Amino acid sequence: IQHAITKIHLVKTYRGTLLIISNDFWSMVKSLPSNKEFWLRMGTMNLPYKTTKEASILLREGELVAFPTETVYGLGADATNDKAVAKIFEIKGRPQFNPLISHLPTAQHAFEFGAFSEIAKQLASMLWPGPITFVVPRSNNCPISWLASAGLETVAIRVPDHPVAKELLERANIPVAAPSANISGRISPTRSRHVHEEFGSNISSILEGGDCKIGLESTVLDFSGTIPIILRPGHITKEQLESKIGKVEIASENKIISSPGMLASHYAPKARVKTRMTTVMDGEAFLGFGNISFEPFPNLSTKGDLVEAASNLFHMMRELDKQNPTYISIAPI
Ligand code: TXA
Ligand code: MG
Repeated sequence: IQHAITKIHLVKTYRGTLLIISNDFWSMVKSLPSNKEFWLRMGTMNLPYKTTKEASILLREGELVAFPTETVYGLGADATNDKAVAKIFEIKGRPQFNPLISHLPTAQHAFEFGAFSEIAKQLASMLWPGPITFVVPRSNNCPISWLASAGLETVAIRVPDHPVAKELLERANIPVAAPSANISGRISPTRSRHVHEEFGSNISSILEGGDCKIGLESTVLDFSGTIPIILRPGHITKEQLESKIGKVEIASENKIISSPGMLASHYAPKARVKTRMTTVMDGEAFLGFGNISFEPFPNLSTKGDLVEAASNLFHMMRELDKQNPTYISIAPI
């Protein structure tokens, strides 16, 4: 099926096969001359969508599974299995010096894999499940693959706040390494179909979990030194963290880049981008915000709400990028 099914005309089972007839297809059939006979050739599609039970078994067998979280869709593999983790780097075209986050179903599980200080534990217990990742020293005998942590003595750990992710992680009962489920350097997926569009048949297992509520990656907080450092900004802000634990620093690009989330270019669309724009030229696409927008282009948030804008950013950029514009111009935010 090349086009999206907008309206369904009929759903029926036929000899154990689910038959879905779209309105578009039905109107095409009706427009055929009625004095002739036509043959309809049908095939079956192998859809990648799985249940959490099937997906947890696949993970344990070393296969990749894309799954939803509240931030973005992740591409998961058994974090203790080097070969499985290597598949992630390969399929994403991700440089192997860029370490991965391991996902666990609860804070209690998470504390087994990293050496969390008391204060880190307190903060994690307040914010997990949720959009924050802790970078901490490995625990003794931590089984997380060195490839997953790119050879670093630290590991990145997160407990996501999404019922499907939680069920998957509980069933699999292993730490699951998962970067965002996109080709390296491109826009992160916030819908299951983005994953399908990006990887096609290269990914044979996807869990459906609806639209990602937050739509921006987790905040990455390095707790391996004396003062906690934000390595990658995300939904949970510096101010929110400081109100709970006092001084927090933000890693600057001038210092050693310890988190590639701080690289000058990441999460980039194919089109070039201009920010703080109030006009749109021929051949360009526009991303509106508040009262600055142009039909037929989308608006990140007509109310000017930053949280709503964040949750729309990646999927709207992706839609605009598909139109191959010369530039994507973005309204002032
Ligand atoms: O919201 C998210 O965090 C999503 C979902 C799927 O959980 N995941 C995600 O993963 O964004 P990824 O691989 O796209 O980003 C992981 C970030 C990178 O910036 C990486 O450099 C940093 O975490 N990171 C991972 N392990 C680290 C470590 N040991 N030290 C420093 N940075 C680390
Ligand atoms: Mg990513």
